Amino acid sequence: MSIKQKTLDLKQRMQNALQGGGAKAIEKQVAMGKMTARERIISLLDPNSFHEYDLFVEHAAKDFDMDKKHLPGDGVITGTGTINGYPICIYAQDFTVAGGSLGLMHARKIGKIMDHAMKLKIPIIGINDSGGARIQEGVNSLAGYGEIFYRNTQASGVIPQISVILGPCAGGAVYSPALTDFVFVVDKISKMFITGPEVIRSVLGEEISMEELGGARVHSEITGNAHFFSDSEAECFQKIKKLVSYIPWSNKYKATQFPKKAPKSKQFKIENIIPTDPREPYDVRDVIRAISDDSDFFEVQELYAANMVVGFGRMNGQTVGFVANQPLFLAGVLDVDSSDKAARFIRYCDAFNIPLVTLVDLPGYLPGIDQEHAGVIRHGAKILYSYSEATVPKLTVILRKAYGGGYIAMCSRHLKADFVFAWPTAEIAVMGPEGAANIIFRHEIMNSPNPEETRQKKVEEYKKKFANPYVAAAHGYIDAVIEPSDTRKFLLHALEISAGKDEKGPDKKHGVPPF
Ligand code: HXC
Repeated sequence: MSIKQKTLDLKQRMQNALQGGGAKAIEKQVAMGKMTARERIISLLDPNSFHEYDLFVEHAAKDFDMDKKHLPGDGVITGTGTINGYPICIYAQDFTVAGGSLGLMHARKIGKIMDHAMKLKIPIIGINDSGGARIQEGVNSLAGYGEIFYRNTQASGVIPQISVILGPCAGGAVYSPALTDFVFVVDKISKMFITGPEVIRSVLGEEISMEELGGARVHSEITGNAHFFSDSEAECFQKIKKLVSYIPWSNKYKATQFPKKAPKSKQFKIENIIPTDPREPYDVRDVIRAISDDSDFFEVQELYAANMVVGFGRMNGQTVGFVANQPLFLAGVLDVDSSDKAARFIRYCDAFNIPLVTLVDLPGYLPGIDQEHAGVIRHGAKILYSYSEATVPKLTVILRKAYGGGYIAMCSRHLKADFVFAWPTAEIAVMGPEGAANIIFRHEIMNSPNPEETRQKKVEEYKKKFANPYVAAAHGYIDAVIEPSDTRKFLLHALEISAGKDEKGPDKKHGVPPF
């Protein structure tokens, strides 16, 4: 064959492979409101940046007539490209080819692109749309999953790993996303579960739909497995692009520096956000927007454990991770879910050199039988562990209440915050004035001719003595009591002078966090 003929032959082979599972399967995919795997990659990446590899990989399975089946690309597309000029490795499972099921060669393609990402120290994005382990390939499929889980774990904390669930993700397949940093889901399209409705019906006799069992809302609101919820694939890709702009390529870098921008101060004025009545709630996200560049805040796990707010913003162009109690929900208490949510985010920021800004306003850990039995001791300890372990710059602002364990847990001086500021409205005490007065003045209250009046008097006495920032300031536990309108100024300065922070923990293989 001449070079020309060989080139034509190549083109023909490529053309065949690019058909995926064929017109009928693609039609079915589109009818389900889903893009094809290749369309997804093209939509997500910068125009013309995608370079595909291993297009001609074939499976070698023989059992169950597999030797008669040709599966283009073995049901997964892999390659490299850029997002906003940012290099990434990517794979997308092609549901039109044997339901995107994972056989040995399919898994090897994924493993190979993950290895590239680790060698090149750039993020890996995995788009999941698969019926799970390819049943005909038996243990080889399981081996493939194991190889992926191992790589996910090795890559954790080294390169950003992003999972996008755009179809079924069933059985053990869910554990690769669960081991990655961020999971994106799309309403009505994403489905994640270990055992599906069929198994649940036959084993337990319980009826449930796939959507109710493991749809996008379930994982965004209830389980916390998903970090970003979207209504469409297009919206999901926009969110991925936005996330990528905040995070560094790997743990060896800092996030890209953006031009500095002032907050939109007319819309978000700190003095107007906090109500005069200390018991009245407010939206802590307004405080974040009042201090972040351009009043921008990219919230992570917005629909899960709403009593804790976490997410990314920028201050003087530098990415920071915000962690804040949300007085709008459960008064911003720490409980099992909010502790998990915050702890994981803190560890992400610490692994990827993103300074932490913590905003405190909480009455403490949530009391209750449910919480105790759900393990609030172990889960609550996670937040203590992650803050104590974190060595990135840690800046804390106490806005109002900082009671008891909540005060300690929310990046206090004692967990080695670098700077702790408090507003004059801060109340730093071992517990709320009402509870405290009831305990320490119990006898006095009970024995007085007018117990209610005495109780009120004692509450006021306690408030005056402890419910302010000055006792903590007198001990040096906070560095400065600041006017709320000076918050950004103090934080910017603290960030600037913390830029060279280089703290190392003790020499150890790794700790044993309260998983
Ligand atoms: C081989 C599979 C497959 C699989 C789907 N297909 N899943 N082939 N192995 N796991 C094939 C189908 O045979 C079909 O092929 C094509 O993909 C499309 O599938 P449909 O069933 O027609 O699609 P749909 O109706 O949309 O249903 C999708 C589905 C269903 C809900 C995902 O296919 C399904 O339930 N699949 C099995 C899910 C499952 O139990 N997976 C767990 C496997 S065990 P044709 O040729 O007809 O087009 C596992 C353990 C891993 O994953 C543990 C790791 C630690």
